[in-house]
Amino acid sequence: MNLIKHHGKIETRASVLAILILITVSIGGLVEIVPLFKIESTIEKVEGVRPYSPLEQVGRNIYIREGCYNCHSQMIRPFRDEAERYGHYSLAAESMYDHPFQWGSKRTGPDLARVGGKYSNDWHVAHMVDPRAVVPESIMPGYHFLLEREVGYHDIAEHLRTLGIVGVPYTEEMIESAAADLRDQATPDADYDGLLARYPKAVVGDLDGRPNEVTEMDAVIAYLQILGRMVDFTDIRTEDILQ
Ligand code: HEC
Repeated sequence: MNLIKHHGKIETRASVLAILILITVSIGGLVEIVPLFKIESTIEKVEGVRPYSPLEQVGRNIYIREGCYNCHSQMIRPFRDEAERYGHYSLAAESMYDHPFQWGSKRTGPDLARVGGKYSNDWHVAHMVDPRAVVPESIMPGYHFLLEREVGYHDIAEHLRTLGIVGVPYTEEMIESAAADLRDQATPDADYDGLLARYPKAVVGDLDGRPNEVTEMDAVIAYLQILGRMVDFTDIRTEDILQ
């Protein structure tokens, strides 16, 4: 009773009430915000996550340019139906080097967060040239022109350097070898050792069936084939993820 009586004094004085509300809300805000200044990152680092190779990065730019994200999300949510269809739910670390990220919430087509390794390079070429040739009921548009367009990469080193400014840890070595790495990744029988040391698990070779040119198709396939493959989830079963 006593408490309610005292509270009445506050509630009947608007300015006192406003000041006390402000103090209470500020304490709540400080408790939430101050710790964030003390920690370096809110994203837990996960082994295997690396910056995109130059060719993958170019593929990613084409993916964005062509608006693939309008129909495809890249974020598997932690629900049983999603994990059973697409695999382990997406981790924040898996898109920490994505600028901009491709999470999305609209799916006209399937989520692509773990499409890497699901199909062969040849399948991707056939599918992108004419989706209905491989999936008769598909409503995805064809992107056959990607095969005709060569990748221009005179500015790839600057591109990686710029991504470095926003926090993608490209090293000087990666930036210096960017143009060579880009070309080698889509060239059959090139020396891949340096490239694969810098960008483990990158798919290499003649990706699009046109060995003598680095086409936009090569780039998009290099990108699609690394999606979801950087982190090793092989010993995690769906049952274990969704207890
Ligand atoms: C108008 C919507 C639309 C757009 C735009 C679109 N897609 Fe699709 N995509 C689909 C649909 C629907 C499917 C499922 C049927 C199929 O496999 O073709 C699909 C399937 C796929 C698959 C196979 C996924 C799987 O797990 O089976 C890949 C890979 C893919 N799309 C890549 C792309 C890329 C790359 C682009 C941009 C160059 C793109 N899509 C643009 C609608 C779209």
